[in-house]
Amino acid sequence: MKYSSIALLTGGLLANGLVADASSPATTPGFWDDPVNHPLMPLYALSLFAAIVAILVVVVCFSLLRVLNVLVNLTEKDRAEKQGIAYIPRGTFWQQLVQKANASVPLAQEQDIDMGHDFDGIRELDNHLPPWWKWLFAGTAVWALAYLVVYHLYGNLPLQREEYDQEVAIADQQMRARKADQPVEEIDVNTLKYTADAAALEKGKGVFANNNCGSCHRADGGGNTIGPNLTDAYWLHGGGIQNIFNTIKTGVVEKGMPAWGKTLSPQDVRDVAFYVMSLQGSNPANGKAPQGDIFQETQAATDSTAAAPQASL
Ligand code: HEC
Repeated sequence: MKYSSIALLTGGLLANGLVADASSPATTPGFWDDPVNHPLMPLYALSLFAAIVAILVVVVCFSLLRVLNVLVNLTEKDRAEKQGIAYIPRGTFWQQLVQKANASVPLAQEQDIDMGHDFDGIRELDNHLPPWWKWLFAGTAVWALAYLVVYHLYGNLPLQREEYDQEVAIADQQMRARKADQPVEEIDVNTLKYTADAAALEKGKGVFANNNCGSCHRADGGGNTIGPNLTDAYWLHGGGIQNIFNTIKTGVVEKGMPAWGKTLSPQDVRDVAFYVMSLQGSNPANGKAPQGDIFQETQAATDSTAAAPQASL
């Protein structure tokens, strides 16, 4: 549990700094927007303080060790002089550590570990693996054991698979919350009726302008080299509000008409379809020549498949 709480704390710090900004850009401001007033600021400050204290403690310990080493050397030198034996100074703490970690056989004693194999003057020595390597190996074994206990036996920390599932669940929740904030009323095309409702037409006009329908159909709907004339009585995919709604929603992607249902809300598709209906007979100058079949509204009333886009030509 101790491991997991430490990992959660440090992991949480990182995640808050790096991920929170990306996942909720609009609602919660990122840490760097206003560090001083960020709710986690005290925690960050405390961690930084603790880290600095820890570094200072380590530095002081090392200095004390050096002083100790000097004192030990002095007393040993003293004793050697008193007993009249040659004094060999001890190395510094660091030198001793390196010697311990490598435990290499000094050059002068190499003949002790010579294995007697001589190839053109190249001899084989029976050197041990350096202790640092063995410590590292033992360390990995200890780590593996801790990992096994923490991740597999007690499950204190989530495995990658669980982490992934958790993140997906969080994203899922966020998406639901976002959707709940802006409910989208689905529109049933089968019961959709066209009414020249001024508010809807005004909105539809805005949708037509904002989505550059005019770049392919001309600003007045008269059609250009790309898109057909939307103001005449001839339709490639059927006229009437239901066919037009469906054509705009699903598009005719292979012919260059985007599927607007993917980017526009159902309401926007309906409003722009209303607007297209309202263009009927507006007869703009230099409109594109009719394409497709003439469409009569009565056809829609009797034809049960009218709701689906009719096959082109
Ligand atoms: C990138 C060009 C392009 C854009 C932008 C575009 N359209 Fe189209 N649109 C087309 C093409 C091309 C067709 C004809 C498809 C065919 O040949 O089957 C078409 C067909 C249509 C039709 C059916 C016409 C018929 O004769 O049946 C309607 C309605 C329509 N577009 C409405 C819109 C609306 C509304 C928008 C904006 C939200 C829009 N289009 C944006 C290219 C475009």
